[in-house]
Amino acid sequence: MQILIINGPNLNLLGKRETSIYGEDSFEDYFIGLQREFSDISFEYYQSNIEGELINKLHEVGFNYDAIVMNAGAYTHTSIGIGDAIAGIETPVIEVHISNVYAREEYRHQSLMAKNCVGVIAGMGLNSYKLAVLHFIPLQK
Ligand code: DQA
Repeated sequence: MQILIINGPNLNLLGKRETSIYGEDSFEDYFIGLQREFSDISFEYYQSNIEGELINKLHEVGFNYDAIVMNAGAYTHTSIGIGDAIAGIETPVIEVHISNVYAREEYRHQSLMAKNCVGVIAGMGLNSYKLAVLHFIPLQK
């Protein structure tokens, strides 16, 4: 099974950025642990701060990967383009957030991608990514 994890803007700063909200761990370290824990899954990780690059990546893998776990960061709340890209591909996507976006500013309560996703996981810290992976495992071919 091939799973792509996509992180959007500012998530390259995890571990350094607003640590009271997003925690002290870098995504790179967390990703190593995830790969060890699910050693039978082939993971790829992609991060970009640029909306069009995120859309290009969805197009590139969205017809051959089994699953995508995506934290689009702030683009979640603003990007019709990312929502449309998810609608246009075949690979199922789960939207994840580290923080509980519903307990934060009102502008974070809207997602322009959620309706095109399998589901949304928010507020579980970095474990949000693992919970999304666990959802896809029973679908394994
Ligand atoms: C986030 C929540 C977004 O509102 C924010 O813009 C982020 C991170 C999260 O993982 O909690 O960059 O997606």
